[in-house]
Amino acid sequence: MELADKVAVVTGGGRGIGKAISLALAKEGCHVVVGDVDMVLAKEIAQEIGELGGQALPVKCDVSNRGEVREMVRIALEKFNRLDILVNNAGTMGVGKTEDMPEEEWDRVLDINLKGVFLCSQAVIKSMKKNGRGRIINIASSAGKMGGVIAGINYSVSKAGVILFTISLAKELASHGINVNAVAPGFVDTALVESFPKSIVEKIPLGRLGRPEEIAKAVVFLAKDGDYITGEIIDVNGGMFMD
Ligand SMILES: NC(=O)c1ccc[n+]([C@@H]2O[C@H](COP(=O)([O-])OP(=O)(O)OC[C@H]3O[C@@H](n4cnc5c(N)ncnc54)[C@H](O)[C@@H]3O)[C@@H](O)[C@H]2O)c1
Repeated sequence: MELADKVAVVTGGGRGIGKAISLALAKEGCHVVVGDVDMVLAKEIAQEIGELGGQALPVKCDVSNRGEVREMVRIALEKFNRLDILVNNAGTMGVGKTEDMPEEEWDRVLDINLKGVFLCSQAVIKSMKKNGRGRIINIASSAGKMGGVIAGINYSVSKAGVILFTISLAKELASHGINVNAVAPGFVDTALVESFPKSIVEKIPLGRLGRPEEIAKAVVFLAKDGDYITGEIIDVNGGMFMD
């Protein structure tokens, strides 16, 4: 799909991997709706895209809140009149051991990482069906395939859910021209993994953390050249998990 003048929504687009995805799609000519629970971050990225000559719209949106998700999509459609790409990137880390994990901590991570993907996808389907075309790209995690290494069990379970959500939705929407895929990063150098021990690098055959831009490249590939790819989970993990 030629990306110039297409409209992309990137959740959690204000920082880290989401920021890199927003910038990469903008460089391809997409108009980018930067949805983030942190409006200060979303505005900063939108401004950066504007300074690069692109068009971006910052929107405050907590992906676990159905009303805010619906409002983000409404604002995006009002501004750009169409939606071509949704990148479900917003996510949070799970903390703690299972034995002591409060129910609220379980729910918090599942609500953002998995229900958020459901709510955002649901909100764009009607518009994408009307166009007869669309791309939904979910940011999963190696933890969703191999189990958590450091993050809490709620994190790996949420990402395993994202992987099966991706495959199931791909089947459901294929006949409407909507491709649904995921990228599963390993350890990527962002604020999310700041507190992880430096020794995690020893688990990575390529010997270093990933860069946010390397995840963004896979997203751009799926958006631009993924016409015949759906229900696929692309590992970008330095070889940490091979399947
Ligand atoms: N960094 C890694 O090593 C790594 C590895 C595998 C997967 N991932 C996944 O990549 C995605 C991005 O991670 P990151 O490392 O860039 O994290 P990050 O913490 O640096 O950035 C996350 C962004 O999402 C936003 N956000 C958080 N909760 C939100 C919510 N409820 N609604 C909307 N926005 C919200 C934050 O404000 C922030 O801008 C996440 O889904 C994460 O699970 C990251």
